[in-house]
Amino acid sequence: MSVDIEVADIQKTDRKFIFSDHDENSKKEANSIATFFLTAISVLLVIVTLPFSLFYCIKVVQEYERAVIFRLGRLLKGGARGPGIFFVIPCIDSYTKVDLRTVTFDVPPQEVLSKDSVTTTVDAVVYYRISNATVAVTNVEDYGRSTRLLAATTLRNVLGTKNLSELLSERESISHMIQSSLDEATDPWGVKVERVEVKDVRLPQQLQRAMAAEAEASREARAKVIAAEGEQKASRALKEAADVISDAPAALQLRYLQTLATIAAEKNSTIVFPIPMELFKGHITS
Ligand SMILES: *[C@@H]1O[C@H](CO)[C@@H](O)[C@H](O)[C@H]1NC(C)=O
Ligand SMILES: *[C@@H]1O[C@H](CO)[C@@H](O)[C@H](O)[C@H]1NC(C)=O
Ligand SMILES: *[C@@H]1O[C@H](CO)[C@@H](O)[C@H](O)[C@H]1NC(C)=O
Repeated sequence: MSVDIEVADIQKTDRKFIFSDHDENSKKEANSIATFFLTAISVLLVIVTLPFSLFYCIKVVQEYERAVIFRLGRLLKGGARGPGIFFVIPCIDSYTKVDLRTVTFDVPPQEVLSKDSVTTTVDAVVYYRISNATVAVTNVEDYGRSTRLLAATTLRNVLGTKNLSELLSERESISHMIQSSLDEATDPWGVKVERVEVKDVRLPQQLQRAMAAEAEASREARAKVIAAEGEQKASRALKEAADVISDAPAALQLRYLQTLATIAAEKNSTIVFPIPMELFKGHITS
């Protein structure tokens, strides 16, 4: 009993499928017949109203443009027309012009949180062009706007995977990364992203101040080390001098006299009484 019902079900669905297939075929046939008649009538109309109808039939696109033609809603075979003259049949054809030149736009400044949690503001310039006019018309409503929005999000996504030092030092490779990622995403829209340039990476004021303070501190530390090294060298030289002087007691006497001569020249109003150093010798050493 149950088996019978199943078989009946299958037969019903089968029949339905066959019927729908048949339906589709007949629809297609009707469609093509209607197309043929409408085309014939339009062509007849064009011939009857010659030569004035030529104004409506002949269209021109520039060297850098292509025309994507739809005949009764269907994409015309043979791809986009142009550059130069192409023909349309009035009433049943409609067409869209597409500009193939490179377009430039600014990605507005984006607040980006880098991998090490620093907020930066980044902006960029993107250059793109249409690589396939047919696809740009049929697959996306507004390729310019879509590319713009995608560029902003891609910029944020790519920069979010970088830390601050990479962001500041590896602009070239980051630009390249954004370009390839964006190009891949816009491929189904017939858009080729030629170039992306990261224009400016702006750091918050506080961070700028902190970085400046850090740089200053490190410079100061270096200066201190250099001064200490100088001191060390000077003291070593002094010690050597003292060693030489202590080797020959007369040297000290000479140095003493030399100093006196200097003082006498500079401050001639001061009277200096030299006391022989030998008097203190016993006290100093003990
Ligand atoms: C554009 O894309 C369509 C559909 O993918 C393809 O048939 C056509 O050859 C392409 N045209 C060019 C110029 O690449
Ligand atoms: C940034 O990331 C790179 C590699 O991902 C790493 O080598 C570098 O040490 C990081 N720098 C900082 C400051 O975290
Ligand atoms: C003392 O020195 C001053 C300059 O420093 C000089 O004008 C003056 O003539 C000197 N006096 C004597 C007594 O040499």
